[in-house]
Formats: sequence, C-alpha cells, structure tokens
Amino acid sequence: MQKHNQLFYFFTIHDAARFKRHLAWDIAPVVASVAQLSQVHRQPLVALNIAFSHAGLLALGVTEDLGDSVFAGGQAADAVQSFNEDTASWVPQFVGDAVHGVILLASDATHLIDRQVFHLEATFGASMSKVYSLPAAIRPGDQAGHEMFGFLDGISQPAIQQLHKTPLPGQNVIDAGVIITGATGDVVDTKDNVPVIRPGWAVGGSFLAFRQLKQLVPEFNQYLLQNAPAGDGSLQARADLMGARMVGRWKSGAPVDLAPAADDPELGADPQRNNNFTYEHEGFNLSTDQSHCPFSAHTRKTRPRADLTSLNISDKPNSIMRSGIPYGQEVTPEEEASGTTIHERGLAFVAYQSQLAKGFQFLQQSWANNETFPPKKTPAEIGFDPIIGQAADGKARLVAGVDPNNTSATLSMPQFVISRGGEYFFSPPISALRGHLSGVDQVVHEHPGRHRFH
Ligand code: HEM
Repeated sequence: MQKHNQLFYFFTIHDAARFKRHLAWDIAPVVASVAQLSQVHRQPLVALNIAFSHAGLLALGVTEDLGDSVFAGGQAADAVQSFNEDTASWVPQFVGDAVHGVILLASDATHLIDRQVFHLEATFGASMSKVYSLPAAIRPGDQAGHEMFGFLDGISQPAIQQLHKTPLPGQNVIDAGVIITGATGDVVDTKDNVPVIRPGWAVGGSFLAFRQLKQLVPEFNQYLLQNAPAGDGSLQARADLMGARMVGRWKSGAPVDLAPAADDPELGADPQRNNNFTYEHEGFNLSTDQSHCPFSAHTRKTRPRADLTSLNISDKPNSIMRSGIPYGQEVTPEEEASGTTIHERGLAFVAYQSQLAKGFQFLQQSWANNETFPPKKTPAEIGFDPIIGQAADGKARLVAGVDPNNTSATLSMPQFVISRGGEYFFSPPISALRGHLSGVDQVVHEHPGRHRFH
C-alpha cells in the first residue's frame, strides 16, 4: 500500500569520501527492501529509498557502463532530443548536472518525513546538500488514489512472473528482467554488436524515470465542457464521456472498453474485472472500431494490448512499473470558476524499468508522441495521446477518435500536461549501497557509531 505522503529530495554530492561513509552506515541499513514494502505490517514508519543520476555516480567515482545510454545522457538532453521539450518550462534545478541523486521518503505523517530530513541533513553534513525537493501526497477524501484530473490511478501494473504467482485477470505478466537489471529477460545496450555486461554490483537494481508533470486541471475541465460531444445526456455527463475516452477509463477506473456509455463504479473498483480487457470484441473490427475506446486513449497508447498482439508483436518488453503520486494543492473555487491554474499541481511521475529506451522513453516517444500509433488502423492518423502526447514546437496537437459521434474527427487540443522536467536515476540494490557504491571495504573501521535514522 502506498504511504500517504512522500518527499522527493534531490541532492548534490560535495564530498564523495564522507558521503560514501554515510551511505554505507546510515542509509543502506534503513533502505526499505521490496519484500518489506509489500507487507504492510513490516513497513517502516518512514520508508526510504535512494537512487543516483549518472552525474551522481560519476561524483562517487563510478565510471562503469551500466548498459543504458539513455540514463548516461541524462533526461534534459533526452527530453529535448526525443520529446520536443523546451527546458525553459523546466524546474531550473533539473537542467544541468547538479542533481546527483534522489532520496525518496514515504510516510503516513509529514512530521515524520520532516524529522527524517532533519536527521539526514545532520548526518550527511556538508558532504551533500539539497538541490530541490518536491512534497507529494495522496489526495483527500474520496479522491484518494485518484490523480489530479480525477481519474483513479495505479490500477494496471505488470505482474512479475518470477514474483507474483497469481496475477489478476488481464494483468500483463512479464519477466523480472523487464524491470530489474540483470534478472531473467533483461536486455542491455550493445556496443559494436556485443551486449554490454552490466557490472555485478548493478544486478538487482532498476532505472527510475522521474518526471514532474504539471497538470492544468481547471483548463482540462473547461475544455471538456466546451467540447463535449452532442447527445442526450447532461452537459456534465457528455463532458465526462469525453474525458473517459481521452484516458481510456472513467474516473472510477472502469475501462471504457468494458463500459463504453457510462461510468460503472462497481466495475472500476473490482480488481477481478477492471483490467480484464484487450480492446478486442466478438464481431469487432479491431483496425477500425473506436466505438468503445479511441485508438488514441492514454491507456491504449501506453499499453496497446490486442492492437499489438493481434499483429504478433509483444508489448511486454515495453512495460514499466509506475509509482507516481500527486503533488500540489486541490483546485480552488477561484481556479475552477476562471478555468485557469494559479497554483501548480500535477503528478510526481515515477516509472521503473531495466532499460529506459524500452520503458519510459519508448512509451513517451514512440507511442504517446507518435501520431500513427497504434499501427495498421483506419484512419491511420490517430494523433497524440490526449493526456501526455507532446507535439513538436509550433505544431498542432491533433487527437483523433475521442468524439463518439464521429470517431474519424480530429481535434486540435492544447496540452494539459506540461513537463517541468526530471531526471533519470539508477536505483541500486541494497548490497551495492553497502558495498561497491560506498567503498565500504576501506572504511569499515571508521564507523562513527552514531547518526542512525529513526
Ligand atoms: C500527468 C500525467 C499522467 C496522468 C494524469 C496519467 C493518468 C493515468 C491514468 C488515470 C491511468 C489509468 C489507471 C491505471 O491503469 O493505472 C494511467 C495508466 C497508465 N499510464 Fe498514465 N498518466 C500520466 C503520465 C504517464 C506517463 C508519462 C506514462 C509513460 C510514458 C504513463 C503510462 C501509463 C501506463 C503504462 C498506464 C497503464 C496502461 C494499461 O496498462 O492499461 N502515464 N495513467
């Protein structure tokens, strides 16, 4: 279960030798293991995790090739080149090499996180300093678990074959190596046609793509009302239908593929049914029929299910494990009335994968931003993912299929999700925090014996 509050604490390393000592003695013992986090009664009051950017590994003197060139290039360069992004809209700290790592703190109480930060800063002293931090939290009341546009999130996650013995109906069962470096099914970069061997210490980790994605919620709501499809229902009901067709699910989580006309909260809440669909139906023409779900819908773009498997293409290598959480305050009445965002809010997006070029980067670039994906459809112009698709500078963001009355119609949509940037990190196995990354063999006798975290 996700903790209520999180803090993303981005730091820069000033004194590698001292930093390494604290990494070994103070951080490694308290880093939450995957097994621990998956059992509620074993969860610590404050769960802590740490991951390093490429610049951060270099600052620690780690120069080995981890077998992921996208990671090595950093997110700023990748976003400009691969996603048409302009870093002018970025949080300035994400541009450049200052972010060496991120400490992820999660707890059900913000004061426990604050206390942990206090201890961290006291322990590490001048060996590192904060570059930037982003607090995030589960939304209040009945919006708990919903992202800022109001849609239930965290429903469809892949199941790791080697760990999850009883996947839910419709769940994407993948090899551990799609998410975990060095595990079965892992794929690395090749150099001169020879696969890079990941260093031993990096086996059992994962690459973490972090993105601060600002969501223009009042603008999104207003757009839906102004462009609601014609029909019998109330304006709000028709706007809701359009929103659901853009996401691929209703706000309750019910997939439009199974509930095309109206929300079905019981279906949305039922894990035995809410992921059990493929976009294919008896008597349906999968290459033309968008009556249930537009080809462009966010969930369909990011996991095309039968759109690819019917062409004998597997979407499994392009799976990610998401653990994002909303940030920012709730929409104020003033913002709702004016249809204009005043206070920044959005999604602190986190995705784990063993290869960024197959995971986050691929989903964003080759699927969400690709106007003719999924392939072999009529009409072939599908347009962008209406939620996260990004058009090249100055070009219209065309989205097709969302109007149920005319699924070949195309809309030119403003962007409702604005990238504020982020970074690519490597989340090492705990053994590497204790060993290789901290050079602990050399400092074992220097343990100061204090500054344990609470
Ligand atoms: C602010 C930005 C975003 C919002 C509001 C958003 C919202 C959602 C929602 C509501 C769902 C359906 C719930 C679920 O199946 O868990 C979903 C699913 C998903 N999203 Fe996003 N998302 C965002 C960004 C992204 C990004 C950047 C990616 C990757 C590039 C992504 C990849 C996925 C994937 C893979 C799924 C599961 C699809 C499936 O298996 O059916 N999302 N998202």
